[in-house]
Amino acid sequence: MKILETENLSRIFGGVVAVNDVNFSVYEGMVNGLIGPNGAGKTTLFNQITGMDKPTRGKILFDGKDITGLPAWKISRLGIARTFQNIRLYRELTVVENVMMGLHFKVGKDPFKGRFTQAVKSYFSASKENKELYMKALEWLRFFDLENEAQEFARNLPYGRQRELEIARALAAEPKVLFLDEPAAGMNPAETEHLMNIVDKIKKHGITVVLIEHDMKLVMNICDNITVLSFGQKIAEGSPEEIKKNPMVIEAYLGREED
Ligand SMILES: Nc1ncnc2c1ncn2[C@@H]1O[C@H](COP(=O)(O)OP(=O)(O)O)[C@@H](O)[C@H]1O
Ligand SMILES: [Mg+2]
Repeated sequence: MKILETENLSRIFGGVVAVNDVNFSVYEGMVNGLIGPNGAGKTTLFNQITGMDKPTRGKILFDGKDITGLPAWKISRLGIARTFQNIRLYRELTVVENVMMGLHFKVGKDPFKGRFTQAVKSYFSASKENKELYMKALEWLRFFDLENEAQEFARNLPYGRQRELEIARALAAEPKVLFLDEPAAGMNPAETEHLMNIVDKIKKHGITVVLIEHDMKLVMNICDNITVLSFGQKIAEGSPEEIKKNPMVIEAYLGREED
């Protein structure tokens, strides 16, 4: 069953049609892959869906609701969370505090009003509510095998663990759908392997995953369904087996030097 879909979604920047009339489907309970050469429009599509940017045309339906053009914080409260292509952690906060920030995104009203760091900073002094958040954050760290690093500064974690901490923070908001933008970028093979297990665990936890990824081994191993973008357009959708032998997909990848 589809939990999210876009209808004829387009985003034009000046002369560049970054996303061109895309019908993208996200299936509930699955790992949905989104692949395509650099500049294909993958991140732009994520930005439209998560409310970081407004579509030029088209619609986004989530859980039966039209969410087109809603602000990011509203979309996040409806149950969509994401991570970014470039790491975005609170480097000067501890590991557990980073996850607590994610929990505040769930309980807070408008996360851009700025009282969040303060709320997290004062958790020791704090109310029962904050202690509960702390315990809840520790549970997520356990999910990621990060509980022993809870009091470490985020910046001191190895790179691969920092990327996983970002995912933990996104999950703390208890989304229905989690969007991951190139989570394995820059990871070594061991870190990538660990991440693959984590993604599988997230799926088993009942959360739908949408994954942008360049590592084909990772994509083919863990995705149930794959959509391919090229120059802003959807050129294919199907199982890993179908995608692997699709001539248009092969051409899109071989036709460009950087991939
Ligand atoms: N804010 C922006 N302003 C202008 N052009 C943009 C902007 N964001 C993306 N683009 C352009 O849109 C196209 C798709 O980019 P992007 O979605 O980042 O691709 P991908 O994530 O698949 O590598 C590229 O040509 C890029 O230069
Ligand atoms: Mg991108």
